[in-house]
Amino acid sequence: MLMVANWKMNMDRAAISNYLDVLSREERWSRWCSNGYRLVLSPPSVYLDFLACEIRKRELPFWVVGQNVCAHEKGAYTGEVSVDMLRDLGVSGVILGHSERRRLFGETDAHVAAKTALALSRELVPIVCFGETEAERLSKEHAQVWERQIAPVWKEVLKARAAGSETPVYWAYEPVWAIGTGRTAAIDDIREVAGSLREIFGHDCSAGLLYGGSVTDESLAVLVEKGTVYGFLVGGAFLDSEAVLRAFDNLTHHP
Ligand code: 13P
Repeated sequence: MLMVANWKMNMDRAAISNYLDVLSREERWSRWCSNGYRLVLSPPSVYLDFLACEIRKRELPFWVVGQNVCAHEKGAYTGEVSVDMLRDLGVSGVILGHSERRRLFGETDAHVAAKTALALSRELVPIVCFGETEAERLSKEHAQVWERQIAPVWKEVLKARAAGSETPVYWAYEPVWAIGTGRTAAIDDIREVAGSLREIFGHDCSAGLLYGGSVTDESLAVLVEKGTVYGFLVGGAFLDSEAVLRAFDNLTHHP
């Protein structure tokens, strides 16, 4: 089970050190890890290197992933970060197509597909976000939205598989109406997602389905108990390292 803390545009070096200091006091990380519970931290790109070094220094078994990557390999793309740069820093994966990138920075389904292809070509694990807005859900278009967002990415995954890639891909259902609003999707909504993905992919993807959107210790425990998802993307709640510890404590009581 993957627990991804998406810090978005928050934290600085002092806050990161404090966060890791709190987590370091916990002695069960390697046990949790060998039982399949993995903490994944996603800082702003300027702190990827710092975070990765601090984690190594403290010998913590956490993975570090980027929040975005450029759709081009290299060259004149001012302000961008490439897949090779992420690899160079020892980053394991990258969040792609987050709704904030789609809504605020004009990222399209085609961009997300291109980024996924590049990530897979460098064995960087893509965490592909998708999800509908409130208006799309109210007009019952949500399943079409998921398909529109996922189908071009899936094509690239199939091409990569045909070329021999075995890098896992995670699919993060993050309904826009649930992000930062305090409203979480219901179990039935998530089951519907799993069903739609099964249709698009032609197979069960439950081993790769993550959920994000106002996840807290409580909502997380309920979703885990019902066995619907393989992990979570957590924004606001996981800016607090104590909340991370509480979540792992809860989770590991629901094997
Ligand atoms: P919140 O947990 O703050 O709703 O954010 C979810 C999210 O966007 C994770 O990527």
